[in-house]
Amino acid sequence: MGISFFPEKKIFKLDTSASSYIFKIGAGGYVMGLYYGARLDEHDVDYLTVREGHDSTVPLSAAVDDWRFSPDTMQAEYPAYGSGDFRISAVKIKNGDGNSVTDCRYVSHRIYKGKEPIPGMPSTAGGEGEAETLELYCRDVTGAEITLVYSVYESHPVITRRAVIKNGGEAPIYVERAYSAAVDFTHPEFRLLHLWGCWGRERAVERRDLGHGITTVSSGRGASGHYHNPFAALLAPGCTEESGEAYGFNLVYSGNFSIDAEVDAFGLTRILVGINPEGFSWKLEPGEDFCTPEAVMVYSDRGEGGMSRALHRFYREHLLSEKWLKAPRPVVVNNWEATYFGFDTEKLVSIARSAAELGIDMLVVDDGWFGRRNDDTSSLGDWVANEEKLPGGLSLLAERVNALGLGLGLWFEPEMASRDSDLYRAHPEWCIRTEGRDMSIARHQYILDLSREDVRDYIVDSLSSVLSSANIEYVKWDFNRNLTEYSSSLLPSDRQGEVFHRYVLGLYEVIERLQKAFPDVLFEGCASGGGRYDPAMLHYFPQYWTSDDTDPLERIKIQYGTSIAYPACTMSCHVSASPNHQTGRRTPLRTRGDVAAAGVFGYELDPTALSDREREEVRRQIAEYKAHRRIVMEGDLYRLVPPEGNVAAWMYVTPDLEEALFTYVRMRTMIAPVSFVRLAGLDPDRTYTDGDGRRYLGSTLMRAGLNLTGSRRDGESVTVYLKAEPQ
Ligand code: GLA
Repeated sequence: MGISFFPEKKIFKLDTSASSYIFKIGAGGYVMGLYYGARLDEHDVDYLTVREGHDSTVPLSAAVDDWRFSPDTMQAEYPAYGSGDFRISAVKIKNGDGNSVTDCRYVSHRIYKGKEPIPGMPSTAGGEGEAETLELYCRDVTGAEITLVYSVYESHPVITRRAVIKNGGEAPIYVERAYSAAVDFTHPEFRLLHLWGCWGRERAVERRDLGHGITTVSSGRGASGHYHNPFAALLAPGCTEESGEAYGFNLVYSGNFSIDAEVDAFGLTRILVGINPEGFSWKLEPGEDFCTPEAVMVYSDRGEGGMSRALHRFYREHLLSEKWLKAPRPVVVNNWEATYFGFDTEKLVSIARSAAELGIDMLVVDDGWFGRRNDDTSSLGDWVANEEKLPGGLSLLAERVNALGLGLGLWFEPEMASRDSDLYRAHPEWCIRTEGRDMSIARHQYILDLSREDVRDYIVDSLSSVLSSANIEYVKWDFNRNLTEYSSSLLPSDRQGEVFHRYVLGLYEVIERLQKAFPDVLFEGCASGGGRYDPAMLHYFPQYWTSDDTDPLERIKIQYGTSIAYPACTMSCHVSASPNHQTGRRTPLRTRGDVAAAGVFGYELDPTALSDREREEVRRQIAEYKAHRRIVMEGDLYRLVPPEGNVAAWMYVTPDLEEALFTYVRMRTMIAPVSFVRLAGLDPDRTYTDGDGRRYLGSTLMRAGLNLTGSRRDGESVTVYLKAEPQ
């Protein structure tokens, strides 16, 4: 399997399907990185550690009798604060004496087959035949025990990492920084790829040179958030979409995170991935431990595309719920943009009736079905159906919708209380706030303190009673504001730095309890669109509302950025009305369908308002999506033309290379353009047939391409389904 230990030189070699990761235990017990990259056939690469040319500003270790060795220039496996390494640190622990000097020296290790879950936190899974784990036990002189946990996958180019800090001393200690992974690379020339954005413009792709000093992408808003995604990649010089080396790093976590890259003066690049230390502190009494979330590291020598495909496959096989991976997801119609808050049972039933004729499987009733919620100023937290809008309640609505052949789904925003809500009036102390300070408000709502058990119980009980009151088969779980004035009324003063992380742990507990109680309900995640789109959420929510922006020409960019890390089967994508409610742009219905069909397909419009011709087109879209969705849900993605110019094109290919779905969109029209797009990922020796019966050899499609020359207006699209002929 993947992990080997060579005792003569105390070298560890972690081999995945495509990469090797090598480190050693050096003199003094220092844990020193040696190599991370394409697979090596030997382990003895000790010569890579040698550094020379130190001056007096670079401190030497008292534990190592070698003038060439300094903690400040070594490749550290888990750089500690204050002990001679002046670069950004992965671990910093305030000890009983009040100082934060920390060190991390090897004590022993254990290697075992498989992989253990993290208590209270989602992580990727690995059975005994799939993964192997190394636990490296290290300690600091104060008694703090630091365990570095590495899991290696045999059939994926993936290593997962995390750390556990235990107080093995006699006085309380405070963990001030505890990253999940740290890697020091031996060259300074990486570009950083990261995903930034905001509401309606999530996961824009940015690539930039790393200069000397520290570059950080992070969140401090209590959620992974719109603004930065907990994903980044280091791109080696020359890396393109389909060639060159890319190292991806993703944190399986939904709260404050930080990804920091530091290029030092001596030509090393350090990357750290973990919980954001800003605002974080965790008290450990003697004997207690703290687990970091898991970081996923993926290596590709096939460019950004290879990195994404590797992550997609890995997440499909080891992160996402197996149950929903194979089961065809319902094609939904969501009433948000159809009605906003202005609906009643009759309107919903008319939408469902019209949707049933089109082949839609589920009606999702969005915001506004509960309390007195007729706009966004009230009632979050009061999870009781509004009988004025829904006479007979949810059970009657479900019966009528079910009788039409559709399932019923429901929107919740469980982590919130409106300022105008019975919940807030009864329990103001349940909201996150700081005594004596004004509470910031966002969308007229406060955020519940999920670090409290009574709050968690309330959420589980109130949602459970709704879910058991009617046949609800789908939940859209929304989260529309972030944490401010964070402190918790139940925690003592020296534990207030724990609020953010306890909130996230509380969230995971609530979701787990609800999913255990309602195992057949499909959960879709949402956070003002795609504001908490991270691997931890995807572990629970097999699909995520990618963005509130459904204008296809904007959505292409958002879906492109999302696809850098996350597979298509997690991207919830809907066809909405034209002109688009966010941008005002008019686009063809066909293009809206083609773009939404690149993920989990649905509608966000009023089907009763469609013309006969539009209904015909929608019927065709749904039938084609259902016929071909396996290609998108299980296939490999090739981003043929990124949406950066006048054209965008992508394709999915099934793992057996039997079927492919190609989509081309003219983002901006040109007069008489010549346009050829080379395909990728096909079997070069097989013959593929398109929908018109035209036959092509796979190698021709990949070398010469498809001819898409022709005048197409702004936003017109073409989709080609390819099927390999029997061999
Ligand atoms: C958020 C979501 C939308 C919709 C509204 C309802 O903005 O992203 O899809 O559910 O809330 O208030």
